[in-house]
Amino acid sequence: MRLNEVDPAVYAAIQQEERRQQQHLELIASENWTSPAVREAVGSVMTDKYAEGYPGRRYYGGCENMDTVEELARERVKQLFGAEHANVQPHAGAPANLAVYLTVLKPGDTIMGLELSHGGHLTHGSPVSVSGQLYHAEHYQVDPQTEMLDMDQVRQRAHSVRPALIVAGGSAYPRIWDFPAFRSIADEVGALLMVDMAHFAGLVATGLHPNPVPYSDFVTSTTHKTLRGPRGGFILTGQGWAKAIDKTVFPGLQGGPLMHVIAGKAVAFQEAQKPEFREYQKRVVDNAARLAQGLISRGIRLVSGGTDNHLMLVDVKASGITGKEAQQRLAAVGITVNKNTIPFDQEKPTVASGVRLGTPQVTTRGLDATDMEHLAEIIAAVIQAPSGADLSGYASQVSEMAAAHPLPGLTPS
Ligand SMILES: Cc1ncc(COP(=O)(O)O)c(C=O)c1O
Repeated sequence: MRLNEVDPAVYAAIQQEERRQQQHLELIASENWTSPAVREAVGSVMTDKYAEGYPGRRYYGGCENMDTVEELARERVKQLFGAEHANVQPHAGAPANLAVYLTVLKPGDTIMGLELSHGGHLTHGSPVSVSGQLYHAEHYQVDPQTEMLDMDQVRQRAHSVRPALIVAGGSAYPRIWDFPAFRSIADEVGALLMVDMAHFAGLVATGLHPNPVPYSDFVTSTTHKTLRGPRGGFILTGQGWAKAIDKTVFPGLQGGPLMHVIAGKAVAFQEAQKPEFREYQKRVVDNAARLAQGLISRGIRLVSGGTDNHLMLVDVKASGITGKEAQQRLAAVGITVNKNTIPFDQEKPTVASGVRLGTPQVTTRGLDATDMEHLAEIIAAVIQAPSGADLSGYASQVSEMAAAHPLPGLTPS
């Protein structure tokens, strides 16, 4: 029996979600649109199989096809990023980071990552995350003037807090990360270096952002942001840490791997090796630059004055509204974004002074430079509109843009 007969409620919610995705423009920087091939792999019988262990060393019989896909995923991701060892079993980005911490740190050890409101991530030592509860978390910040990382300030901070592990990478930092500088700082203070490239992994895979692998002890990532794979995570490391990382992921942290997702990861890693993927990532970055320019030219303030990657942080407080209000206004015209704190924010995270915008998903559905110009015009007008203004004209423009660019592989609604 088909889903619509077995469970009409879940079926209806999925149909509604397809319609929502078709009709809205998703500018959430951490989201994308997987290919039909990736979704086919994730929706396959691979979900039925227990495969605890690793290829060739499983605790269950009947794992020969599991070995094939996991081996393909491991080899492809190693090739993509030039790594010696890959573990593709982490269920998501957060457990990938935790697996590294559990491998190299003792409770109470010091970790040092980018402050959350300066672009870091919860798993880099926030007090609400196990990373900030099990370990002593210190943070570095962006420079108050440039709102970019100043590596001399990061160095000073590292020398003062003497971390056991330095974490680079984040969720809302619109600039390029300087991995050689992080490596030398880590060496100076005797720390290990982990780079969480969850956000910009697709740019790294295509040479549009420097590769952290040669400079890091560990590189962690999600697969579902710029990399455009299924929801999941992975860890890259050198041969020296390979056994220890594998042991932490399983049996240390997780049980049976999500083999259907690992199949989807294998497909996505192959897609990421193709020249079309590089062209796509180039368009993602070009579109972000174009959108940023369009906003700036209309008097909107961007944190750090722009972007070098796929995302930007808009200081909507400078235009007189909160991040929460901007998110609601943009949602009302069919543009999905998330409110986000900005460096030195005076608002709490549930209100925030900024919104984060990213171009990976709209670029997958084919929006180009002209569309970015149009989007910038709409976003600026919505943010700058007087309270209570009628925004319905913008809603129909967004709806037309979405209809002109149907999501590949879905029937237009
Ligand atoms: C930099 C970074 N690391 C880790 C994560 C966590 O990934 P997940 O939500 O897959 O656990 C995110 C998610 O937003 C992220 O941006």
